[in-house]
Amino acid sequence: MKAFPPALIERLAGAQSVAVLTGAGISAESGVPTFRDAGGLWEQFRPEELANVQAFLRNPDLVQRWYAYRRKLVREVEPNAGHYALVALERLIPDFTLITQNVDNLHRRAGSQRIVELHGNLLRSYCINCRRPATEIDLEAAAEGQPARCPACGGLIRPDVVWFGEFLPEEALTEAYAACERAEVFLSIGTSALVYPAAGLPLEAKRHGAYVAEINLHPSAIAREVDAVILGKAGEILPVLVETLRQARSRNAPAAGS
Ligand code: OAD
Repeated sequence: MKAFPPALIERLAGAQSVAVLTGAGISAESGVPTFRDAGGLWEQFRPEELANVQAFLRNPDLVQRWYAYRRKLVREVEPNAGHYALVALERLIPDFTLITQNVDNLHRRAGSQRIVELHGNLLRSYCINCRRPATEIDLEAAAEGQPARCPACGGLIRPDVVWFGEFLPEEALTEAYAACERAEVFLSIGTSALVYPAAGLPLEAKRHGAYVAEINLHPSAIAREVDAVILGKAGEILPVLVETLRQARSRNAPAAGS
């Protein structure tokens, strides 16, 4: 069984408040490509051509097709053991917040409850003109070679995700910072910690006194600044971590009748 730093288990076992930040790495074992690893999405596509509003306005059909491909991909995969372990962890901690940079909806499908989606969600779309939410039917109604448009006003339909150069949803960011302030333990999982403001959250939590642990295949950009780095696959490490925590909690619990 994996040996975790004793301080991590101690802090987790006593914690009332835990926050978690996830990145593309947690969905890698489900078959969703990450962004920056070999074979990642940004290796095949240039972000400047696809994930910004100018690119969209220049070539809405191409950008919509890229997102249609990504929606299809995430619908065809399943949450993995890492996602499910975070559902189990949420049940053990009174104040638990799962902050995710992922837009793949897999945490929701696994059953996590308190989710803060910092970069939006691939499965939602809206009209850039009247802001009306768009349905899958609206998206599929486009004629060959034509971009999908809002049935109400004719505006272009875009995915509800954060593109380069755009602000993060304010409410989500406020909730994420508040969770960082409260957290006694903060877990940063499967993120390269290169994209801000998300990448700043673990150290924000640390500044407020949290014990910060990273779980990643390789050390991330902030690995030197966190309290513990646990290297390996999230889908293998997280179930063992939750089981170790469960055992520690039951050892700490007062015996019945005492
Ligand atoms: P990245 O692709 O930058 O990083 C993925 C991280 O996951 C890397 O550090 C890998 O080492 C790690 N990893 C891969 N497989 C893993 C596994 N099985 N278990 C644990 N770790 C694993 O993805 P993000 O950090 O999520 O933004 O990227 C951040 C943002 O950049 C994304 O949300 C996206 C992108 O531009 C927007 O779209 C706004």
